[in-house]
Amino acid sequence: MKLIQISDLHIIAPGEKIYGLDPLQRLNTCIADININHSDAECCVITGDLTDLGEIDAYRALREALAQLRIPFYLLLGNHDDRRRFLEIFPESEQDGSGFVQYTRRTAVGDFFFLDTLDQGKSGGLYCESRREWLRQRLQESDGRPVYLFMHHPPFDIGIRGLDAIRLMEPESFAELIADYSNIKHLFFGHVHRPVSGSWRGIPFSAIVSTNHQVAMDFEAPRIIHSGGDPGYNVVLLDQDLSVIHMHSYVENPVWLKRDMAS
Ligand SMILES: [Fe+2]
Repeated sequence: MKLIQISDLHIIAPGEKIYGLDPLQRLNTCIADININHSDAECCVITGDLTDLGEIDAYRALREALAQLRIPFYLLLGNHDDRRRFLEIFPESEQDGSGFVQYTRRTAVGDFFFLDTLDQGKSGGLYCESRREWLRQRLQESDGRPVYLFMHHPPFDIGIRGLDAIRLMEPESFAELIADYSNIKHLFFGHVHRPVSGSWRGIPFSAIVSTNHQVAMDFEAPRIIHSGGDPGYNVVLLDQDLSVIHMHSYVENPVWLKRDMAS
C-alpha cells in the first residue's frame, strides 16, 4: 500500500508568514502535488503541528485546504496545537474516551495507531498513564498483526540538543510499554522538521521535514535554529516485510514540471 506522510504544517491566520514563508500557500502547493502525483495513495497521515499558534482561524483555514485533498487523511496533534480549538473545528475527530485525539485504523498491511503526545502549553510531549493504558489495550487487541505507530514527538534523542530538550518526556515508560510487542513494524513521527531515520530498540523509525520551515543541522546549539530548506512530504510504500520511504520535495519537483513533461 502507498501512504503519504506530511507534517508540521504550522498554519497561521491566512496571509501571515513564518520566517518569511506562507504556511498555507506551501500546504496548498503540497496538496496540489499529492493530488497530481499520488491520488492512488490509500491515505495521508499528518503528524502534528497542524497550526503554529492553535488559532481558530488557522484550523478553519486548514479545514478548507484539506477539503481539496483527494485522498482520506488522518490528523495528529503536536505541541503547537490546541486540542480544544482543534476539536471545535474538527468535531468528527475520534477520541480515546479520555479526551485525547487517539484512534486506530485496520489496513491491508496492518494496524495504524495514531497517538496524541500533546502536553498542552508545553513544547515537549507527554504520553501519560491514561494514554499508555489506551495503547496497551490496542496493542493487546492487535493480536500479533503488524502495527505502525504515528506520533508527533520522538521518544528518544536524535542528537540535536535543541530538539532533544523537547522530545517526548518520560520516554522510559513509553519504551517499557512497547517493549513487549515485537509486532511494531515502524514508528513515524514529526516535530523535528528534518529528514531523520534509524532504529530505536530494534524498531525502525523515520521523521520528516516540515511543509513550511526546517530546523538546521546544528548538533551543539542549545536552542533550535530554524533554517530555510525545501519543504516536502514522504511517500511510504508498505508491504508484508517491506517498508520503503521516499522523500519528495515539491519545490524542486513542482507540480507543473510533471504537467509540462506530459504535454
Ligand atoms: Fe513543528
